[in-house]
Amino acid sequence: MAIKRIGVLTSGGDAPGMNAAIRSIVRYANRTNLEIMGIFRGYAGLLNEELKVLDHRSVSNIIGRGGTILKTARCPEFLTQEGQARGVEVLKKYGIEGLVVIGGDGTYRGAIALSRRWGIPCVGVPGTIDNDLNGTDSTIGSDTAVNTALEAIDKIRDTVTSMERIFVVEVMGRGSGYIALQVALAGGAEDVLIPERQFDMHRMCHDIVEGNLRGKVSWIVVVAEGASKAEDVARQITDLTSLETRVAVLGHVQRGGSPTARDRNLASLLGMEAVKLLADGQSGKALGVISDNINVVDLEFAITKKALEAEYVYRAMKMLI
Ligand code: ADP
Ligand code: F6P
Repeated sequence: MAIKRIGVLTSGGDAPGMNAAIRSIVRYANRTNLEIMGIFRGYAGLLNEELKVLDHRSVSNIIGRGGTILKTARCPEFLTQEGQARGVEVLKKYGIEGLVVIGGDGTYRGAIALSRRWGIPCVGVPGTIDNDLNGTDSTIGSDTAVNTALEAIDKIRDTVTSMERIFVVEVMGRGSGYIALQVALAGGAEDVLIPERQFDMHRMCHDIVEGNLRGKVSWIVVVAEGASKAEDVARQITDLTSLETRVAVLGHVQRGGSPTARDRNLASLLGMEAVKLLADGQSGKALGVISDNINVVDLEFAITKKALEAEYVYRAMKMLI
């Protein structure tokens, strides 16, 4: 029998484009005669029964807004059997027969528990600036975050060049060097530290000193937060080269702002597909796009480590400075 009502939630770290995904899910569901309930504050709101029916108009004018109108949260209680049982009870109470979760790997783990252990049909839409989910070239929010960080690095470059300085810029990515690598290449950075590759500090400092002797005095070193702290890297550079350094930690600005066209469109397409999958009776799936084609994988595969072309991009960046 066809399902009648589904739910949607955003969970974990917010990402620009989550609103565009919510809009797509709500509107596509409505157009295909499915009722849709928004669950506020991720799994935490599910346990607290923070739910509301969403209609076409409730998602007007949000496609270009950062953040998530559904709010997001972290919910340690949902890691427990009791927490999940409570979640299932609430879903049943509200007649929700399928759930779209928008978030990162933690959010997907919650959906794996709900679908595999408790039999609730769940589909994942990749929403994280870290671009660290498998089965998709890109996650919603990552393009915006890269462009936000790049804008900042371009501005830092102006002062770096004018004052002939060494600058260490820390970008987000607790377990992922995606943003760091992308902005390092796009911003013409001199070096980049990411968690996915070994880094030789002595070698970089040697290059800095050598460069200095040749007259190359401006350096931007990008650091993914998962690789090191900008302050620590800057201190090591000063210790090893006796040169002055400056630090910028870009932080949560990378999580905000209006999503790029790429993120809005990814969100709009994947949101619709998520509703289609649930209506088709599918469960435990995660959506993505590979080479511009919609890709569907198991949630378990989506949380496996994605190969980052770190070495190739790193070498390209070094070749071009
Ligand atoms: P993200 O989705 O951005 O990776 P988190 O890792 O913080 O964010 O996870 C978001 C939420 O997902 C957690 O607060 C928790 O409620 C839920 N979650 C994470 N891991 C699990 C798990 N192993 N089982 C059940 N729920 C989980
Ligand atoms: O959303 C992913 C992420 O931005 C990571 O790169 C970062 O380490 C983390 O979230 C920080 O999140 P919060 O400050 O919300 O705990």
